[in-house]
Amino acid sequence: VDASIGGKNGVNHNGFKNIIGTFCLPEFVRINTAFLETLPVRELRNGISELLKTFIIGNRAAYSEAVTEFGHSENISGISWVQYISMAAGIKSQIVENDFRDGGERKKLNLGHSFGHAIERCAAAENVDISHGEAVSMGIVIAARLSEKMGIASSGTAGRIEKDFASCGLVTKPAFGMEMLQDALRNDKKRNGDSLDFVFIRDIGDVSVRKIRLEDIRL
Ligand code: GLY
Repeated sequence: VDASIGGKNGVNHNGFKNIIGTFCLPEFVRINTAFLETLPVRELRNGISELLKTFIIGNRAAYSEAVTEFGHSENISGISWVQYISMAAGIKSQIVENDFRDGGERKKLNLGHSFGHAIERCAAAENVDISHGEAVSMGIVIAARLSEKMGIASSGTAGRIEKDFASCGLVTKPAFGMEMLQDALRNDKKRNGDSLDFVFIRDIGDVSVRKIRLEDIRL
């Protein structure tokens, strides 16, 4: 859904996510949905979190369709995974083709990840079991709330995303308080000085990367 596409190979170091790495494309990527049948539901939900992230970035209709299917599916393994994974791969490939080295548009793919990584850092420090997909779904909800608060998204956008995510079984309530998360953001090695590139949601299917000062992040 995400990491297999775009040739980013990162490793964690000293408690920081993907802080060292290379850009190197694979010869091919295979989508093998039979493999998904071997995964526990929690892992499938991690995938759903990244799928919905990609649709919020670039395809409103796919987002609505996916939420309807994931939210109403009695059995998560009965979902038409190939269709959604291919759509997400297409959106991501397009973005990566325009900005392979991550200088601009590719940063959109970090939607939910500033707070997501902060949540993962807090979870590691507090010994709490939170998966990457769970941290990302919480991070997207925070990004949506911040976008709404700053007048970038229209009123109701965050509420809709929160409701949709919950209906798909995703975690939406931030696991840590804002003060703790802000401290973790301050320790984010990828930020520039007092500000960071943050992915705001303008609408479902439309995001924008803007610099925000840490002190202006208030919810
Ligand atoms: N996972 C984000 C990217 O590949 O840029």
